Amino acid sequence: MTDKKAQLSVGNKVIELPVYSGSIGPDVIDIRSLAQEGLFTFDPGFMSTASCESKITYIDGANGVLLHRGYPIEQLVENSDFIEVCYLLLHGELPSPEENEKFHDTVKSHTMVQDQIRHFFKGFRRDAHPMAIMCGVVGALSAFYHDNLDFSDERQREIAAFRLIAKIPTLAAMCYKYTLGQPFINPRNDLSYAENFLHMMFATPCEEYKVSPVLARAMDQIFILHADHGQNASTATVRLAGSSQANPFACIASGIAALWGPSHGGANEAVLCMLQEIGDESRIDEYLAKARDKNDPFRLMGFGHRVYKNFDPRAKILRQTCHEVLQELGLQDDPMFRVAQRLEQIALEDQYFIERKLYPNVDFYSGIILKAIGIPLPMLTVIFAVSRTIGWVAHWHEMISESFRIGRPRQLYTGLTMRNHPDTD
Ligand code: CMC
Repeated sequence: MTDKKAQLSVGNKVIELPVYSGSIGPDVIDIRSLAQEGLFTFDPGFMSTASCESKITYIDGANGVLLHRGYPIEQLVENSDFIEVCYLLLHGELPSPEENEKFHDTVKSHTMVQDQIRHFFKGFRRDAHPMAIMCGVVGALSAFYHDNLDFSDERQREIAAFRLIAKIPTLAAMCYKYTLGQPFINPRNDLSYAENFLHMMFATPCEEYKVSPVLARAMDQIFILHADHGQNASTATVRLAGSSQANPFACIASGIAALWGPSHGGANEAVLCMLQEIGDESRIDEYLAKARDKNDPFRLMGFGHRVYKNFDPRAKILRQTCHEVLQELGLQDDPMFRVAQRLEQIALEDQYFIERKLYPNVDFYSGIILKAIGIPLPMLTVIFAVSRTIGWVAHWHEMISESFRIGRPRQLYTGLTMRNHPDTD
């Protein structure tokens, strides 16, 4: 905090507003007193509005920097596994070796879901989109775990956090198995978080799935790289839902719903649909022309970011992993992956994309990696939800731990002014 002040003059009136400095990043002007002056600010899309104070994640989009609790994402991917990153996001510090072991064990002790949840799945059509099932079953967890719905009890919040982190991959894999018509596969607590997820996805009761270390590492990296990203649409949704004191499972379900859209978590699925539609390297120019054409709504999916106007640091890491996975699986010459690699190369050299600072984003590479691992298209956003659950939980926890008010945005009303109903005399 600083003594800096901003002055806003409206008509004859000058209003003084406090200015706060964070530990890094732009200063913010505190406009809360404006409502008393009969004024609101107008900022659709939150282009210039900080909706909360947070100590979890810092992003410098201009320079391609992403820090979790101060640690650069590159160092976390290099030195930590996903569960350790979960601990960091929740607690603010990396765990000691003892704390790390205990945290891993506690997460493992919550991987199973209540048996009744299996029956809940049967209410869905087999061809339902797995994100639709996820919205439903995660929200429904509040009906199964009544013992930790009290947001004001710190111990209950902690148990809810463990349950969410541990059960989300189990539910995600159940969504997949359900759509296939295969039996659900129980979690295996002797495996790592990423290995266990791949096991639950691809093992069957008659056949074990041997997890390749390269693929397990890629999966773990995808979980880490999607774990948190500040106040994005889904995290802001979770905070807003939480501000009404809704229970944690309902809040996370709201985050899943917000994540589903193609401008947010649905982008990796949209990337693969686009690559399939392009189909062949010879058609790349045609699609680039569509992307450049102002009269065509088509956008090159997996390119551009609201915050990163430089190479997204997560995309840089996954770019390398993507090449390793394709090599491990012998897929370098697969037609779709060739289109992806060629598209990346051409777009990076294209004037339209250079001028607008449109770089491949994390979804461009995660979509390709997950497809190569054998994850079906509709499951890609589900995997984003599995990874982002810890971010949502950490932000929800941070908000509840501090004093908070119910979120209640204002509006610029442009509708009709008061008029009489036609039947009124
Ligand atoms: N293809 C073609 N043109 C684009 C694209 C694209 N993917 N992205 C932005 N532009 C153009 C846009 O038309 C505009 O051009 P002009 O200035 O001539 O009008 C300019 O670039 C700025 O675009 P914008 O819509 O103002 O940028 P934004 O910050 O509001 O949008 C975005 C960010 C991610 C929604 C957008 O880049 C996009 O739609 N990308 C494709 C979808 C995608 O990959 N989404 C995943 C985002 S990363 C995952 C996450 O963190 O949730």
